Amino acid sequence: MPNKVALIIGITGQDGAYLSRLLISKNYQVHGLRRRSSTFNTERIDDLVESGALKLHYGDLTDPSSLLQIIIKVQPDEIYNFGAQSHVAVSFLQPEYTANVDALGTLRILEAVKVAGIDSRIYQASTSELFGSTPGPQNENTKFSPQSPYAIAKNFGFEISRLYRDAYSMFVANGILFNHESPIRGRTFVTRKITYGLASFLYGHGGVIELGNLDARRDWGHARDYVESQWLMLQADKADDFVIATGESRSVREFCEAACESIGIKFSWEGNGVLEKGITTEGKTLFEINKKYFRPLEVPFLLGDSSKATAVLGWKPTTDFHALVEEMVNYDLGMVTGSPKAVKWIN
Ligand code: NAP
Ligand code: GDD
Repeated sequence: MPNKVALIIGITGQDGAYLSRLLISKNYQVHGLRRRSSTFNTERIDDLVESGALKLHYGDLTDPSSLLQIIIKVQPDEIYNFGAQSHVAVSFLQPEYTANVDALGTLRILEAVKVAGIDSRIYQASTSELFGSTPGPQNENTKFSPQSPYAIAKNFGFEISRLYRDAYSMFVANGILFNHESPIRGRTFVTRKITYGLASFLYGHGGVIELGNLDARRDWGHARDYVESQWLMLQADKADDFVIATGESRSVREFCEAACESIGIKFSWEGNGVLEKGITTEGKTLFEINKKYFRPLEVPFLLGDSSKATAVLGWKPTTDFHALVEEMVNYDLGMVTGSPKAVKWIN
């Protein structure tokens, strides 16, 4: 049987980097869409490009003709849409751009596949942000209550994907993934900001780590585990929507504490509100609150119930909270000391 062909849109991001390795290990022919940038944006996959293990094509979710051309050229069996302006706080500053990429970009992919008449299975990167202010535990039957321009754009992406599935019998699966992190997570997301900041602090390269809301709670899993669920969704007998989560919710404050513990830094929280600080036993300020990191609206509590994915897809997470924190901290210690460690890409 010929190898399956996959097209990953958003291949240069965290999930794209993990999924490409997973698919290559399964003998897929992997293609990716990259957008033009004035600086290098392929750092996470450079080794794969150089070895010829994957092929990149220039395109953009805001440019429908580029999507159509690539899809016609590649004729993918599977398309993974990870492309997004994925930062929730930034979406309040660039709401229209976020909607263009995250909402209309999804529609453009669906239309391109429909117009091209290709029988591709499509994975749409939906998100736990859709649940917004609805209290957890959240599963596939929980009401959406999006609280940011990002989540509202992703809500459109979710619904238009479902519509193309129902109206045109296309195989389109929504993965409602809760936060997933890794050593290659972007450094503006809170987990990596903390682990990289701590490693820098320990080696005297970095100053105080400025944070926003310490009490927001997230269900944090590992990207390496979560990309397996994305692949499984496209191997299922029928297209469906699945929640992917660990079932454990922790606060940003707890993430700071776990990261410090894993690296042997002792500190305590002192003060209240915006004056709260994390002070080490040596009296140095490690964490501080900066109001600029608060969002106009917050999602206070995410806790996922992925029992449907376990029952239907046989998917379960393998990395718990402390193992995730430890892997990220160790990786960043290697980064700041100039001896980067190898990333473990596949379980
Ligand atoms: P990420 O690291 O931010 O990667 C986003 C990708 O989208 C990058 O490859 C980026 O390219 C690309 N992109 C941005 N704008 C684009 C455009 N206009 N046209 C084409 N590509 C564009 O995100 P991630 O963490 O891998 O997440 C993957 C997807 O899952 C995203 O859609 C995200 O919203 C969603 N999601 C993530 C999580 C999570 O916790 N990680 C949870 C739920 C859902 P550049 O490299 O050039 O910027
Ligand atoms: N980024 C950031 N920076 N967040 C902070 C900070 C800070 O300095 N201080 C506190 N936080 C809080 C945020 O207010 C939020 O409640 C929580 O930490 C997590 O923020 P992020 O790491 O930026 O992730 P997110 O939950 O907003 O969004 C991520 O997960 C979604 C899935 O739930 C992104 O990956 C989205 O693309 C994804 O859909």
